[in-house]
Amino acid sequence: MSSYQLPQRPRRNRKSVAIRDMVRETTLGVQHLIYPLFLVDGSNKKNPILSMPGIDRMSQDIMIQEIESCVELGLNTFVLFPAVEDSLKDRSASYGLKENNFYLTAAKEIKKRFPEIVLMSDVAMDPYSSDGHDGWVENGQINNDKTLDILSKMAVVQAAAGFDIIGPSDMMDGRVGAIRTALDKEGFHDASIMSYCAKYASAYYGPFRDALDSAPKFGDKKTYQMDPANATEALREASLDEAEGADFLMVKPALCYLDVIHRLHQATPLPIAAYNVSGEYAMLKAAAAQGWIQYDKAMPEMLLSIRRAGATAILTYFAKEYAASIR
Ligand code: PBG
Repeated sequence: MSSYQLPQRPRRNRKSVAIRDMVRETTLGVQHLIYPLFLVDGSNKKNPILSMPGIDRMSQDIMIQEIESCVELGLNTFVLFPAVEDSLKDRSASYGLKENNFYLTAAKEIKKRFPEIVLMSDVAMDPYSSDGHDGWVENGQINNDKTLDILSKMAVVQAAAGFDIIGPSDMMDGRVGAIRTALDKEGFHDASIMSYCAKYASAYYGPFRDALDSAPKFGDKKTYQMDPANATEALREASLDEAEGADFLMVKPALCYLDVIHRLHQATPLPIAAYNVSGEYAMLKAAAAQGWIQYDKAMPEMLLSIRRAGATAILTYFAKEYAASIR
């Protein structure tokens, strides 16, 4: 028999470009993307990061040019990470709180040049810490509450420098509440908080730690970052961060944790962000360099999967290339 009576033929909704465009469930536009940028002190510096092809550490002047070219592509949201010289690192991450350090100065300049963009910060001790940990280290342990004081001060100087979104990436207990209280006390009611809510102790941060030279000097981050085996626990983190005043909840990394993105999206009214991390970027770039994958198709498919799982925003090193590709 050559023809069956099938009442349901889902292929009918795929029969032309126009129909496929009409029934598409998920969109991915530049407005959903947040582009991470790595800042170094000085001028005219552009140092490539070997494990992240196409991504550089930039001084402020070069970064301003970079942001300008992104804005031309419609990309308006950026998260800034400082790569700090070892000689400036200490136990208490004091450089992170120092007035007019190069990170805060750059933020001020960038917001002056581009007042309409959204600039997000990183709140954690590790970029400034001689221990390479996100918290205050005492006898080989992380002191949670002592860390909160430092994080709160860091958030306040960042808000004062003009950051629109404060991004605590440290996974200390109670940090969202502590930061919200400190910001409000100083009158920064409009500074948003994007909490790294479900941040896993992941091997996929490797290239990022190379970029910032921020790997822990001893041990690992398992007493504060989450166990990759857990998803229900992320709901507990989410309800705490929500109650403490977070404006966005982040899941990080993205690809191995699409289920967590999905569950958080269903459980909270807050927008979910997902961090498509350095290792995820490196994997795809490496396969593409070998000719083992069709990069121009695989890259948007990856980003789309994160949106489909329920992420509103995606922090991704692919942001600029994606923005250029849909021009
Ligand atoms: C640390 C921080 C990390 C990343 C962002 N902030 C690494 C870590 O927790 O060690 C990773 C981002 C990436 O891999 O792209 N505060």
